[in-house]
Order: sequence, then structure tokens, then C-alpha cells
Amino acid sequence: MSKATVRKARLQDATNIYELVNSLADDGTLLRRSYAEICENVRDFTVAESAAGVFLGCGALHLYGPHLAEVRSIVVKPEAKGQGAGGKLLNALLHEADDHGVASVCLFTRIPDFFFHHGFREADRTAMPDKVYKDCQNCPRLYACDEVAMVRGPLPKVAVLGPSKLADLVQLTNVPLQTGTGR
Ligand SMILES: CC(C)(COP(=O)(O)OP(=O)(O)OC[C@H]1O[C@@H](n2cnc3c(N)ncnc32)[C@H](O)[C@@H]1OP(=O)(O)O)[C@@H](O)C(=O)NCCC(=O)NCCS
Repeated sequence: MSKATVRKARLQDATNIYELVNSLADDGTLLRRSYAEICENVRDFTVAESAAGVFLGCGALHLYGPHLAEVRSIVVKPEAKGQGAGGKLLNALLHEADDHGVASVCLFTRIPDFFFHHGFREADRTAMPDKVYKDCQNCPRLYACDEVAMVRGPLPKVAVLGPSKLADLVQLTNVPLQTGTGR
């Protein structure tokens, strides 16, 4: 049984996250993330560490809105694999989605078996237009993608990214559009 524990990331974890995530970016296992992007989104991340506080791995939950979240950048250091840290990270991210009231969680992966264990199923990528809009259109593998799209929970009924999607978000959250000066 793993002794790894998980906690929300702090800015001080950004260098470890940056180095581990990008160590698997060359072969396309993970999306490359800049250091600035990691820092900006560090509150999305959860980290796993040993009892001695040594960094073992990380994963992120990106919120598109109440209709969809995405598990991103989930990775465990090679020497710590197979000891439960990855499962603990994924469970923590799924609990976080629950806490936010988000039932639909998606991801794109080359290792669907790992995620089947955690309630994900294969889905058509066109069912997650926000994910496609955010990442796929700028991806060099756009027309040669070898990743499996997966979702846990219901498919999202709306999308909020891309042109003319604001109305969908307003309809979803039932919040009237604010007009006026704003600050
Ligand atoms: C995927 C990854 C995070 C799993 O971390 P881990 O700490 O090794 O996972 P765990 O020890 O918690 O394993 C949990 C279960 O998943 C299974 N599993 C682990 N890696 C797997 C893989 N690559 N494919 C299929 N199943 C896998 C384990 O056999 C284990 O199953 P069990 O509970 O029936 O024994 C880790 O292998 C990794 O960093 N891989 C490289 C990065 C990557 O591919 N990330 C996913 C991008 S979408």
C-alpha cells in the first residue's frame, strides 16, 4: 500500500510540476506546459508526496464551467509508479470536481485502462467541444491524434468556449448577463 499523500499544490511546487510534466511532453504523453502557465494555474494542481515530503507526482483539474471539468497533466515519477500515488491523485481530482458540483469530467489519454478503473468510459471527442477548442486546434497531432477521449458522468450539454458561446453559459448557470461598466 502506498504511503503517498496528496495535497493541493502551492506555488513552491511549480518547478517540480514543470519538470515532471514536460519530461513526458516530447513523445506527446502529456501536453507541454510553460512555467508561466503552471504558475498561473497552480491552484488547479494537486501533488503527491512521500511521508518525508518528497515530490512524487501531480495532476490538475481544469474547470471549464459547471458543465465540464478535465483531468490534465496527471503523472507520477518513474521511480514511484505502481504504488498507488496515481490513483490517489486521480481520486483527489475527482473529489474536487464533486466539491465544485461538476458531474462531467473528461480527459484524453493513451492509457484508457488506468482510467476505466476509475469510472471513465470512452466517448466521442466531439461530445467535449470545449476541450477540443482549448487544446486540439493548436495541436500538431490534430489530424493524427492517437488519444482516446474519455468521460466520467454525463456528457456535457453545453459548451462555453469558441465564438458565440456566452449564451450557453448564461443559460446553464441561470445568471443574467451583467451589462454596464463593470470593473
Ligand atoms: C498513469 C500513472 C499516473 C499511474 O500512476 P501510478 O502511481 O503508477 O498508478 P497506481 O499505482 O495508482 O495504479 C493504479 C491502478 O492503475 C493501473 N495502472 C497504472 N498505470 C497504468 C497504465 N499505464 N495503464 C493501465 N493501467 C495502469 C495499475 O495497475 C493499478 O491497478 P490495480 O489497482 O488494479 O493494481 C503513471 O503510470 C504515469 O505517470 N504514467 C505516465 C504519464 C501518463 O501517461 N499520464 C496519463 C496521461 S492522460
